[in-house]
Order: sequence, then structure tokens, then C-alpha cells
Amino acid sequence: MTYYETAIARFREWLELAHETEGIVDPTAMALATADASGRPGVRTVLLKQVDEAGFVFYTNTRSQKGMHLAANPYAALDFYWAPLARQVVIEGGVQTVSDDEADAYFASRPRLSQIGAWASDQSKPLADREAFEARLAEVEARFGDGPISRPPHWTGYRLRPNRIEFWQGRDGRLHDRERYYRSDSGDWEWLLLNP
Ligand SMILES: Cc1cc2nc3c(=O)[nH]c(=O)nc-3n(C[C@H](O)[C@H](O)[C@H](O)COP(=O)(O)O)c2cc1C
Repeated sequence: MTYYETAIARFREWLELAHETEGIVDPTAMALATADASGRPGVRTVLLKQVDEAGFVFYTNTRSQKGMHLAANPYAALDFYWAPLARQVVIEGGVQTVSDDEADAYFASRPRLSQIGAWASDQSKPLADREAFEARLAEVEARFGDGPISRPPHWTGYRLRPNRIEFWQGRDGRLHDRERYYRSDSGDWEWLLLNP
């Protein structure tokens, strides 16, 4: 196994344990940090929808702040924090959109209300009042009737392909364990320990 394969397998083990641990409400919730073309950062929480050796996938509106950031500057960082386990995982890497087929398949699996919301929400843009949003929802519902709801062109998935994955295990006295898996200059994956 390469260090990269080990890191992904380990992440999946940690996530599985987070799913099984009482008190962790949204184990797949992660902070997603992006930056605009001039390097100014933004951060928000999104849900991890898939993870394997191809990378970490989340879904959103391409015209949102994060979507605009990623269009201008296709790099991001993710941070999972599972408090009851005293564990954190931080991941950094380049980001690409998923294929249309992949996004279509995931969109089709979502609850109908979420599909309607994806059409109705002009995510991250100002909204006059709640009524204006309700009216947009009604409009979308009327447009699709009982038929299937297609994926909006401005809604897709992004896949972060890691070049660094850090596992953080909290320990007494702040003497934490930190292990970093990273892509070295040669392109091979390496591993090292960091001071807490
Ligand atoms: C637990 C949680 C999960 C969320 N998951 C998503 C998600 O998967 N996709 C998404 O677009 N927004 C999600 N949101 C909303 C985002 O945090 C954010 O408000 C929205 O995407 C707009 O972000 P932006 O203006 O920075 O682009 C989630 C919020 C929370 C609190």
C-alpha cells in the first residue's frame, strides 16, 4: 500500500467510527475553505458525499461564493472535527468539478424538496424577503409538476484531490498526535510526524 492509499483507508476508518459514535450529529460535515483570486479566504460547512482514492466530493451551487472562488482559484482545504473522539482531519488539494453523469446521478438521488430548492435558491445572493423565496419555490414546483426534476446547470459536485492529509488525535495536556501524509516534490506520497 502507498502512503496515499493508507491515508485514504485511514480516513475512511475514522469516518466510520465517527458514524458509530454517539453525539456526532453530522459526521460528514466539514469546513470548506476557499479563496478568491487575490487570496482572500472564505469558509463554510458542507457535507462530504463521497470519498475514495479519486478524492473528496461535495455538492453545491457553482454561482455561490465558494463556486466563484473555485472558478477563480481551484484549491481548497477541508476540516473535519469530531469532538467526542477528540479527532480532527485536515485535507488540502486542488479541486475539479465532477462529471455531468456523476452529478446527474447524485442529484437524482436527492429528496424532491432539495431538488426544488436547488432550482429556487440563488445561493449566496441577496434575498428581498422570505416570501420572494417561497414564490420561487412555488414557481419551480409548478414548472416540474409531478415529473422528474433535472439537475440545474448551476449545481454540481466538486472533487478535491488531496496533496496533504493530516490526522490529529487530541491527547491529555495538549500533547496531541499529528501525522501528515503528503505528496512530495517527486510526486510520491510520504509520511511524517508534526509537533502538536
Ligand atoms: C451542517 C451543514 C451542512 C451543509 N451542507 C452544505 C452542502 O453540502 N452544500 C452546500 O452548498 N451548502 C451546505 N451548507 C450551507 C453552507 O454552509 C453555506 O451556507 C452555503 O453553501 C453558501 O456558502 P457560500 O456563500 O460560502 O458559497 C451546509 C451548512 C451546514 C451547517
